[in-house]
Amino acid sequence: MGFIPQYEPFFDESEAKALYEYMRSGGWVTEFKKTQEFEKLISEFTGARHCIVTNNCTISLTMALLAAGIKSGDEVLVPDMTMIATPNSCKIFGAEPVLVDVEPDTLCMDLNSANSCITERTRALIYVSLHGRCGDMEQVKAFCQSHNLFFLEDAAQAFGSYYSSKHLGRYGDIGTFSFSMPKTITTGQGGAIITDNDDYAGKIARLKDFGRIRGGIDIHDTIGYNFKFTDIQAVIGIEQMRKLAERINRKREIYALYVQKLHNIEGVRMLPTDLAQTTPWFVDIYVDKPDEMSTWLKEKGIGTRRMYPAVHTQCAYNVSAYCPNAELAAKQGLWLPSSVQLEEKQIDMVVENIVEFFK
Ligand SMILES: Cc1ncc(COP(=O)(O)O)c(C=O)c1O
Repeated sequence: MGFIPQYEPFFDESEAKALYEYMRSGGWVTEFKKTQEFEKLISEFTGARHCIVTNNCTISLTMALLAAGIKSGDEVLVPDMTMIATPNSCKIFGAEPVLVDVEPDTLCMDLNSANSCITERTRALIYVSLHGRCGDMEQVKAFCQSHNLFFLEDAAQAFGSYYSSKHLGRYGDIGTFSFSMPKTITTGQGGAIITDNDDYAGKIARLKDFGRIRGGIDIHDTIGYNFKFTDIQAVIGIEQMRKLAERINRKREIYALYVQKLHNIEGVRMLPTDLAQTTPWFVDIYVDKPDEMSTWLKEKGIGTRRMYPAVHTQCAYNVSAYCPNAELAAKQGLWLPSSVQLEEKQIDMVVENIVEFFK
């Protein structure tokens, strides 16, 4: 058996064929009809009124905050356990991310901790559905309403994940997704913003297209930038959307196989995961010696990846914050091979080597 990477992209003939046909069709290459088609598919799939695709999720978060009127100096509540893009999306225009601890079972923002971080400058809350898991989204919504906060969902890892059968990203005023390589679907780089709010959707459409009053015309009544997508990416995205149900099923099956094979190994902890609602992004386990296990598995031809450090401990931030749950997840977390195309015999090999590690 060859090396098993922690993650690798999965395409088949359909993306190649669609790209070839598109390139021969005289398409506009920059964003146009294929992008609109891709946006429509995402709106239909999530149930959102608007979808605007962008060049990545990081800038999608920034645009959402800007559309909501968040300004330099405003404070934004952000979980301490997330990919660093979440707090960075505030930093880029001078808003201040305030790092909040997470719940131990979901690794999503803990509302009691959030409550203790509120000041008179707090204007927004970014909820990250890490790995596709989440807490009680109605409670998060009520919390934001009661504190008059703009509620932004960073659902970068949650495409295909739900709470109470409603797609994540739809509880917030705005939700965002990522289509970078290791996501449920990928367009290489790419992001999407969903919202039911016409005003936010209009503002974001202008922000991403130089502030144009509409496409194809050089009249600008607001400041905007260039955070656009391309039809080339949309062609890939449309093909990935056609296979989305299959990809979601497979990701759930893979997680279930890991649970079944790892659950009685002492020393390995997994988080409770409702596979009827959640499409696990990466398979995450928690062990006492993740670095040693990672090195051991690498020697056996198995790729893993250490979980994010808690944001407040990263050199780029290096601030003091009381976030013991985020710190524990960072200390113990390890991502196992999680590609959509992973086969059961490869999962067996990973599990056998984990058993050997403990011997
Ligand atoms: C939770 C989270 N937020 C934001 C991002 C940034 O997404 P992108 O790479 O599309 O900018 C990621 C990427 O992995 C992520 O996991």
